[in-house]
Amino acid sequence: MNFRGSSIKPVDLDLSKIPKHIAIIMDGNGRWAKKRLLNRIKGHEKGAETVKTVVRVCQEIGIAYLTLFAFSTENWQRPKNEVMALMSLLKKFIVEEQQSLMDKDILLNAIGELEKLPQDVLEVLMKTINRTQNNQGMQINLALSYGGRDEIVQMVRQIAGKVHSGAMKPESISMEVVSDHLYTQGIPDPDLLIRTSGEIRISNFLLWQIAYSEICVTETLWPDFGEDEFLAIIKNYQARERRFGKV
Ligand code: FPP
Repeated sequence: MNFRGSSIKPVDLDLSKIPKHIAIIMDGNGRWAKKRLLNRIKGHEKGAETVKTVVRVCQEIGIAYLTLFAFSTENWQRPKNEVMALMSLLKKFIVEEQQSLMDKDILLNAIGELEKLPQDVLEVLMKTINRTQNNQGMQINLALSYGGRDEIVQMVRQIAGKVHSGAMKPESISMEVVSDHLYTQGIPDPDLLIRTSGEIRISNFLLWQIAYSEICVTETLWPDFGEDEFLAIIKNYQARERRFGKV
C-alpha cells in the first residue's frame, strides 16, 4: 500500500475512533541513504526527524501511546560504526528533546533489554524517563535492544520463578498475568501497527501484543514518511471493521 499524496487533515478524522496505541516499525533508513549515495547514518539522522513529526501529529490528534521500534536485539549485529552512530544519535535525540517532552507533557518510557545499552546512553535515558514520569499527556515507548521472543522468555522466567517459589499457582496464570509480566505491562495492546519501506513482516516486534492489531505496511521509506501519509493511514484504520475474532 502507499498512502502518499493524500491530503487528509486532522479534522477529517473520526474523533471517536482515534487509535489509543500506535506501534511503528521504522524501516528503510539505510535504503533512503543508499538511493542518495549517502552513508547509512545519514538515513538514520533523517529518520530521527521523522520521529519528531510523528510525535507531533500523535499529540495533535490525541494518541495516548506511541511505541517506536528504534533498535532491535538483532541490530547489535550491524557493523560497529553503525551501532555506535545509532547509539549516539539516540543519546543526542533524548538530550535535545528532553525539555520539549516536559513542555508537551509527554511521558517517556523504554522497553527492551536496556541493560545492554552503553552506560552513557542508559544514563540519559533513565534520567529523562524519571524526569517525565509524572507527565500526564501522551506516552512514548522506545523499543531499544528489544526483541519480542526475548520479552516472552523473560516473562516465562519471571512467572516460572513465582510458581517455583510458591508465590503463584500454575492454574492462576491467565492472559492478564502474561501481559502483566511483559515489558509493556500496563500499556494497552496496539490498535494499529505501521511498518514503513514495504517489507511485510513483523521482525520480532511486540509478538504477544499485536494479536488483534490492524496492520498497515507502506512502501514509503521511514525518512520520507510524513504527516499527510500518517493521517491517511489513520483514516484507513478508521474505515476498518475490527471484529476481534467475533462475527
Ligand atoms: C531501520 O532502518 C531503522 C533502524 C534500525 C533504526 C531506527 C532509528 C531511527 C529512526 C533513528 C533514531 C531513533 C530515534 C528514536 C531518535 P534500516 O537501517 O534497517 O533500513 P534499511 O532496511 O533500508 O537498511
